[in-house]
Amino acid sequence: MEPSPYAPGSLPEYLAGRGRERELIRDRVSRLSMLGRSGGPLLAFHAPRGLGKTSLLRMAQRDAIADGFLTVWVTGRDDRPMSPDLVQALSAALKERSFGERSKALLHRLDQVQVELGIPGVKVGATLTSDDKTTTGTAVLDELLEHAGRFAHNHDAKGLVVFVDEFQEAQLGDRKSLLIGLQHFDGAPDPTPVAIIAAGLPSLPPAVTEAATFGERSRFVELGLLNDVAVAEAIRLPAEHHQVAWSDDAIMAAIDLAGGYPHKVQLIGDATWGIARPGPGTTITIGHVRQAEDEIEDRMTGLFRTRLARATPEQQRFLTAMAAVGDGPVERAAIAAELGVPTTAVSRPRQQFIDRGFIEPTGRGKLRFTIPGFAAYIRNNT
Ligand SMILES: Nc1ncnc2c1ncn2[C@@H]1O[C@H](COP(=O)(O)OP(=O)(O)OP(=O)(O)O)[C@@H](O)[C@H]1O
Ligand SMILES: [Mg+2]
Repeated sequence: MEPSPYAPGSLPEYLAGRGRERELIRDRVSRLSMLGRSGGPLLAFHAPRGLGKTSLLRMAQRDAIADGFLTVWVTGRDDRPMSPDLVQALSAALKERSFGERSKALLHRLDQVQVELGIPGVKVGATLTSDDKTTTGTAVLDELLEHAGRFAHNHDAKGLVVFVDEFQEAQLGDRKSLLIGLQHFDGAPDPTPVAIIAAGLPSLPPAVTEAATFGERSRFVELGLLNDVAVAEAIRLPAEHHQVAWSDDAIMAAIDLAGGYPHKVQLIGDATWGIARPGPGTTITIGHVRQAEDEIEDRMTGLFRTRLARATPEQQRFLTAMAAVGDGPVERAAIAAELGVPTTAVSRPRQQFIDRGFIEPTGRGKLRFTIPGFAAYIRNNT
């Protein structure tokens, strides 16, 4: 049997149905290469868990590298400042590109900053908790991005693209300095070819505007479920690379099971592959999909369980009530009625679950679960 080409939990071999989003990123990034302009305001993608934010950003990073840009990747965290991670990532990116002697001055500056910020690994978080040090980190962050962007532009790397995953988790000071930096780069008399592309949960847009009022100029793009064509491609194309086909009815069954949820698409592919054990020239059939169904549901259940594990009793009650009302979009008032409390009493868990990406508003006070099958899981398990 060929190894499974599906990737539940990691970067998919084929990123389906995100052509428009990749194009948006490409447009932003290409502003840098032309005349060394800045990448403009923040471009940020937001969606519930498992919809493919990290995958989109990783693919975009590959695109940017292939197009010759210098790139760095950082992940927002609320338990430590971002500057030390960013400095390390920048150093690594510069070394990888083998600029040799030319990058010596910049690398030296990065080393210096690393020392100023505290040696990484030596409890960076602890050394940077006082306000003044955080401020220093903030100013330094902008300075470094600016220098690195100009350096990249002057040395055939067109510009610097910074990818920030889980942006909403980043500390307020870091969010501020990234946004202030971008605004500053955009208006600077000297071109500063730096773009920041972010991704995060539905609480990302408020986390941006909280950090800077002009953050509203950011471009927010919501990532949705995959459509049927995208699911079919995500299932079919990775197999094709191994000369393995999926029958049409097997694809239809996969589309039905997936509900457009990217993580489940990978699970379906992976579990079905494991049952079919296909070799080159063979075809995966609907029978294989049916046999894999139990395992697929089990693995989804595992996902739901870990998600629910951290819910407080108040939150549990809210979810149980919401699931009891039904699968479709449900009225907030109906959830309150199910719990026997006034509508205002459910606003706290409601907002918490929206922020964490469990549920989303659909307009006119209605809410729905973001992951297909979650409501049924709650009904059967709580
Ligand atoms: N466009 C896509 N086509 C096919 N598979 C995808 C696509 N996007 C994501 N996936 C798959 O879905 C799963 C979740 O993707 P990813 O980790 O990128 O989501 P996420 O939104 O970053 O989730 P989280 O919020 O938990 O960080 C992975 O297994 C990945 O392989
Ligand atoms: Mg992610």
